[in-house]
Amino acid sequence: TKFNVLIITGSLREKSYNAAIGRQLAELAPDNLVFSHAPSVGTLPHYNQDVQDAGFPKEVMAFADAISAADGLIFVTPEYNYSVPGVLKNAIDWVSRLRPVPFDNKVGSIISASGGAIGGARMQYHLRQILVAMNIHLVNRPEIMVGTVQNKTDGEGGKITDETTLTFIGNHLKELARLLQLHHDDQSQKAA
Ligand code: FNR
Repeated sequence: TKFNVLIITGSLREKSYNAAIGRQLAELAPDNLVFSHAPSVGTLPHYNQDVQDAGFPKEVMAFADAISAADGLIFVTPEYNYSVPGVLKNAIDWVSRLRPVPFDNKVGSIISASGGAIGGARMQYHLRQILVAMNIHLVNRPEIMVGTVQNKTDGEGGKITDETTLTFIGNHLKELARLLQLHHDDQSQKAA
């Protein structure tokens, strides 16, 4: 079975290491995963309930529609001050106000990279908590926290070249594919 996987990036930076990893995932993944990229989280306005009450902005709907169309979601994001970048949290907050919630019952995973030694590990557990609230079923292992990322690529905004990291990412994507298949089979069985 083929599965549509949407990549959501938490950095707006042109030479973002995380965005670069997001662009590289397709070549490291099993053939049955078909990748696309969500609109930038930077296109969404700041969450404001007054704006919501006047009607969801079209940028929010475009982002939410991409999520609804996907079977799987991969969040590729840096860590800011031990937590989730505000722009990413803002986008999640917007989508969480739609009914039905587009995130509900999706399969997903988290990938992070940073210049620090532990690659965004502290952020991952904050994001994981938020994604539990969205009822996303997340890959547990292998965790992908790419530390000292600047030493593992062919340049800022470039590709990961470190073989160990590439193997870990490949295994992570295999596990995502396995969870997607399990979830798909479970949903089919419930529908029958
Ligand atoms: C950072 N950075 C950072 N790194 C980290 O490992 N832990 C942290 O808590 C933080 N905090 C932090 C806050 C803010 C506001 C910025 C701008 C940066 C450094 C960060 O990992 C580094 O800039 C990455 O290169 C950002 O990811 P992208 O943009 O390359 O994907």
